[in-house]
Amino acid sequence: MAYVTEQNLTDVVLERWKAIPDPRLRQVMQSLIKHLHGFVREVEPTGKEWFAAIDWLTRTGKMCDEKRQEFILASDVLGVSMLVDAINNRLTTGATPTTVEGPFHIPNSPEFGSGENMAKEAPGIPCFVTGTVRDLDGAPVKGAALDVWQTDGEGIYEAQQDHHDVWMRGVFRTGADGSYCLRTVAPIGYTIPMDGTVGELMARTDISHMRPAHIHFAVTAPGHHPVITHLFQKGDPYIETDVVYGVKEPLITDFHKKPAGAKAPNGETVNEPFYEVHYDFVLQKTSKAQLKGAAS
Ligand code: BEZ
Ligand code: FE
Repeated sequence: MAYVTEQNLTDVVLERWKAIPDPRLRQVMQSLIKHLHGFVREVEPTGKEWFAAIDWLTRTGKMCDEKRQEFILASDVLGVSMLVDAINNRLTTGATPTTVEGPFHIPNSPEFGSGENMAKEAPGIPCFVTGTVRDLDGAPVKGAALDVWQTDGEGIYEAQQDHHDVWMRGVFRTGADGSYCLRTVAPIGYTIPMDGTVGELMARTDISHMRPAHIHFAVTAPGHHPVITHLFQKGDPYIETDVVYGVKEPLITDFHKKPAGAKAPNGETVNEPFYEVHYDFVLQKTSKAQLKGAAS
């Protein structure tokens, strides 16, 4: 065997790590070693710096439990979550683009009828979201499920609450014409959690730790590629500096302000100013297999 030198070490390690029967794992490990060694060769960390990095990773792992995932947050702020999302959702032009799911989705939300309010006790400005779900040919998708979650008007998700009531989430379905209508309150921009190791790192940068106001949607229908995405409020001050790089131009939406006493899209008269948002989701049929080279 070759005795190691600084120069040949990467090649020696790569040669040894070829002994992996699973070809995908072999590919992953070869690439990881190549890039990791390349990083270390470029940065040339001191021993102290390398142990500081190991300590940061150790503390990041220790922060993770079933409620908190600091590694996902690290992946989010480094743009890796959005890159993985993009690679796995190469949809045809015209389909609604996807964006990060984020850590605050809670499964099995209650079902609401069309126009019902999913924000009953929540603080915030009333907000009605209407639109359609269609396929790429413009045909309405009947019975599509819109799983919706967001912050209340004070920037708080259910997962960040102490009490355990269902908060700011619900499932709505499209009618025969593909239309949907829901009542909620307008979300506001919020900071990612800054009390952990990711916050510690962000605090040493001049990078904004804010997300612009958004409503999360997971839109699913049999025979269609699911779309996990957000609608962002146009004009939000953080739209161009979203800390997790989640904003895509087609997802920026007008929140139209309506005066007190105006009639809302669900037919009710609202005695305070409110917002109306209109958005048409476009789903791609899975049968057309139009995914451009994404891993299935
Ligand atoms: C969110 O949209 O809820 C989110 C996404 C990534 C990191 C933190 C929050
Ligand atoms: Fe969010």
